[in-house]
Amino acid sequence: MRALIAGTGAYLPERVLDNEALAAAYNLDTSDEWIRERTGIRQRHLAAPGETASSMGAAAAREALRRAGIAAAEVDAVIVATATPDSAFPSTAARIQAALGVPGGPAFDLSAACAGFVYALGMAESLMKGGHVRCALVIGTEIYSRIVDWTDRGTCVLFGDGAGAVVLRAHESAPGRDDGRGLLSWHLHADGRHTDILQVEGGAGSTGGPGVLRMAGREVFRHAVSKLASVVDQALTANGLDRSEVQWLVPHQANLRIIEAMGRKLGLPPERVVVTVDRHANTSAASIPLALHEAVSDGRIGTGDLVLMEAIGGGLTWGAALARF
Ligand code: COA
Repeated sequence: MRALIAGTGAYLPERVLDNEALAAAYNLDTSDEWIRERTGIRQRHLAAPGETASSMGAAAAREALRRAGIAAAEVDAVIVATATPDSAFPSTAARIQAALGVPGGPAFDLSAACAGFVYALGMAESLMKGGHVRCALVIGTEIYSRIVDWTDRGTCVLFGDGAGAVVLRAHESAPGRDDGRGLLSWHLHADGRHTDILQVEGGAGSTGGPGVLRMAGREVFRHAVSKLASVVDQALTANGLDRSEVQWLVPHQANLRIIEAMGRKLGLPPERVVVTVDRHANTSAASIPLALHEAVSDGRIGTGDLVLMEAIGGGLTWGAALARF
């Protein structure tokens, strides 16, 4: 039995601001050229005042269910990776469970910042392998526009809002004929000594009240390149795969330079690396399922394709997952 990605879905808020419009709207001393050259970002979607992580996540999940041909009644777990939950509790997952009419099973949020989706895939697969669930919704949904410091040009230009979702279902090949489909492995890491280089200083239990996102960009960049390279190697080695066997890289979308470095490491031509950072900016835990959905729904990623996902985020947390579609 393997956990198969049976459907994908996405939600992006209607309001789109390109770099120039963002600079004008928030009175930022920046330029389209600076942002594009350093990050590859051209624009981002920003949530409307009434939108929340749960409303966006529910929309993405509905589409994933529809595309998988699976009814909400068949879902028996909802896992939401988010750093921007609607509330401390109930969880965003519980809210989405109710919004969709999922009848029961566990529903919980998972906090691993930008690595959250890969973490959530791993947790969902563990529940499945343990025999606890047969069909799980795994959702990444984020509203970073509510936690960035709109006076800090070094961070606020980097993020966007959105949600992505996948339906995971237990998949069994015909006896004696393993079709190889499903999640092959996942590899998760954290190193809490690096808390200070990427964090939101505050939250529901904080002594200092609500806070904003702070990042030491160069430090994060340095860790990203080395830790992602090492977890990619770990994923290949664990499966006895050569890098030439990977057909698609669906990386966390934080910075085009980091994405391209990982593509080069795998020896992949640029067209085999799924890029959305130019249009979505960094949507944290939502970025991989958003990118996955784009490449699956436009027909690039098809049945049988081997896909590598990798991400790093605050914590530091990082990880990779290999899946055959
Ligand atoms: N527009 C114009 N200038 C800006 C700017 C902006 N939006 N943001 C920062 N600057 C300025 C800085 O003030 C600094 O000016 P100074 O030299 O006069 O002090 C200069 O640009 C260089 O700043 P620095 O932060 O060193 O830039 P950088 O080349 O490291 O690029 C990042 C910044 C954030 C793009 C880059 O470090 C990065 O991508 N890091 C990884 C971030 C990441 O992936 N995070 C998410 C992980 S989940």
